[in-house]
Amino acid sequence: MEKFKQFNLEHKIPIMRDKTIDFLYHIFDNYQIAQVLEIGTAYGYSSKYLARHPSISKIITLENDTERFGVAQEYMKGETKIFPVNISAFDYEPKQDFDCIIFDGPKSNQEKLFAKYSTHLKPQGFIFIDNLNLFQKTDKPMTKNRIKLKDKVAAFKQFIEKLSNQSWHVEIHDIDDGFAILRRK
Ligand SMILES: C[S@@+](CC[C@H](N)C(=O)[O-])C[C@H]1O[C@@H](n2cnc3c(N)ncnc32)[C@H](O)[C@@H]1O
Repeated sequence: MEKFKQFNLEHKIPIMRDKTIDFLYHIFDNYQIAQVLEIGTAYGYSSKYLARHPSISKIITLENDTERFGVAQEYMKGETKIFPVNISAFDYEPKQDFDCIIFDGPKSNQEKLFAKYSTHLKPQGFIFIDNLNLFQKTDKPMTKNRIKLKDKVAAFKQFIEKLSNQSWHVEIHDIDDGFAILRRK
């Protein structure tokens, strides 16, 4: 995995950070068999990492960028649990419910994705949302585009926090770039 991680970093692919993916990986220790949907494959680092967990039986992972999808497919040869799909998460129609739905794709319009995908979560399942503190602590120059995305994600984080007044348990962790874990009450 370390070699593949370095390959991703060399190609400037924004992969899940170490503590974040380790935290997510160990949530599956509490599951017997888990079926996962991931939004945002990139080159497939997170899905390959998670697929090593014995409790995970299947990961469907969505990527809309055809070039990245092609690289992911190449590196997923021999992976029997991972099913990559070259499609936008806004267009994909799930045919099943999942134990875990990972939000690690587009950083705008995530409220729309939440409305769409939360209906496909199994009752005991959880939604994992990465990068909730996007560009809060960064050395990168804050271009107009980055400022826009930062504001969109901050608004989405507020939306997530308010879900705890409704039918969701919301856990927010300020680890790495910030992530949330949501479960139905
Ligand atoms: C943060 S990267 C994913 C990293 C990956 N999960 C990992 O840790 O290895 C986000 C990816 O989401 C993809 N993406 C952006 N918008 C998308 C959409 N509407 N549907 C599916 N994927 C999308 C981007 O092309 C990018 O590759």
